[in-house]
Amino acid sequence: MESFEVILKPICLVILIVLCLHAMPSSCNFTSFVFGDSLVDAGNNDYIFTLSKADSPPYGIDFTPSGGQPTGRFTNGRTIADIVGQSLGAKSFPPPYLAPNTEAQAILRGINYASGASGIMDKTGFFFRINVKYMQIGRIPLGEQVSNFEQNRIYMVNEMGENYTRKFLRKAIFSLTIGSNDVLNYIQPSIPFLRHDEVSPSTFLDFMISNLTLQLERLHEMGARKFIVVGVGPLGCIPFVRALKLLGSGQCSSAVNTLIQAYNHRLKELLSRLNQEMGPETIFVFANSYDVFMDIIANYHQYSLENANDPCCGGYFPPFVCFKSSDANTSALCDDRSKYVFWDAYHPTEAANLIIAKQLVDGDENVSFPINIRKLYNYNNS
Ligand SMILES: *[C@@H]1O[C@H](CO)[C@@H](O)[C@H](O)[C@H]1NC(C)=O
Ligand SMILES: *[C@@H]1O[C@H](CO)[C@@H](O)[C@H](O)[C@H]1NC(C)=O
Ligand SMILES: *[C@@H]1O[C@H](CO)[C@@H](O)[C@H](O)[C@H]1NC(C)=O
Ligand SMILES: *[C@@H]1O[C@H](CO)[C@@H](O)[C@H](O)[C@H]1NC(C)=O
Ligand SMILES: *[C@@H]1O[C@H](CO)[C@@H](O)[C@H](O)[C@H]1NC(C)=O
Repeated sequence: MESFEVILKPICLVILIVLCLHAMPSSCNFTSFVFGDSLVDAGNNDYIFTLSKADSPPYGIDFTPSGGQPTGRFTNGRTIADIVGQSLGAKSFPPPYLAPNTEAQAILRGINYASGASGIMDKTGFFFRINVKYMQIGRIPLGEQVSNFEQNRIYMVNEMGENYTRKFLRKAIFSLTIGSNDVLNYIQPSIPFLRHDEVSPSTFLDFMISNLTLQLERLHEMGARKFIVVGVGPLGCIPFVRALKLLGSGQCSSAVNTLIQAYNHRLKELLSRLNQEMGPETIFVFANSYDVFMDIIANYHQYSLENANDPCCGGYFPPFVCFKSSDANTSALCDDRSKYVFWDAYHPTEAANLIIAKQLVDGDENVSFPINIRKLYNYNNS
């Protein structure tokens, strides 16, 4: 019985996919392959030895599918990737790559490869500073995330053949939300990384852009055609950086934000160039999370939020840990999580993620360029 099911299942899947690609496009599920860092990690870091994981309460406290239990998401509820998927009709979230038995899921709803603390560059996130000590930490850099997709693709080709795999991937959404940790490592001179004094900001941006380009080209070669590349948000305004730079309420580090805006500008140029070079079958959408997030911080009252300054969990001062320990109950939580912009010192709340996701999906070209995510999803590139 069991072995019968095992044999039957993939065949059914393939029939479904073939039907969905040919006869009934409306029966196709929303499929997305998610790459990135802790902003979109759905639990991969729970499976590796690392200090960067969100596997204990109160992380996930507002995540309904788990009943409020932690899932490895670095926020109280859903991530931006989760909400974008739901807005486009996804009935479930792509499982983390490292969770057991996810291969077959790749064909149904996609896979999440994202990993907290990771960056575009391999070395990013290698060191993590805990008080005065450096710890080496585990994370899956972007290049390795793309290699993991390559493994899943081999499975797809075995199941569906090369031609159907290509057809299937042409419709799927590939999102990349990465770059924040590269910037965070670069601006902390105490971290042994690309040293400020040795690598100029413009060389640093060259490295980021060239390394990212390489990974986008690898994905394109493997058949990805619909891309969302999320720019880096205004990290100069997050509680961690404001504390690092000794900035008071309502202030942001303009040095950090200037570097990020230069990166985002370069990224947008890169994506425009790739859009021209790769022809109409391929679209790269630049997601301007910077402006959206800045607008939320500046006009939080208009979004029915009440605090754009303090983290809801873990406090404003180092070491910024948001956790629940066995003896002492928990880090204090804010009274109303739906009114805060920041969940912890680094990550937005679900409330902020909802606003950002909605704008990226349905916003104008100042937010998603050249088209928004809903149009990207509906775009007929076959
Ligand atoms: C869509 O997803 C549902 C639930 O996960 C699954 O049962 C169905 O087979 C999927 N359809 C296709 C065409 O993949
Ligand atoms: C796959 O597509 C190529 C090019 O369109 C075609 O020549 C080939 O016959 C197809 N293979 C199968 C197994 O359908
Ligand atoms: C990637 O970044 C490294 C520095 O970490 C740099 O040496 C290299 O030239 C960059 N570009 C590519 C395409 O790898
Ligand atoms: C932890 O919380 C429970 C219920 O909320 C309470 O009864 C208990 O006294 C708390 N323990 C500590 C150490 O604060
Ligand atoms: C985009 O922003 C510019 C400048 O802020 C504004 O003039 C323009 O109307 C905006 N475009 C749309 C489509 O809203």
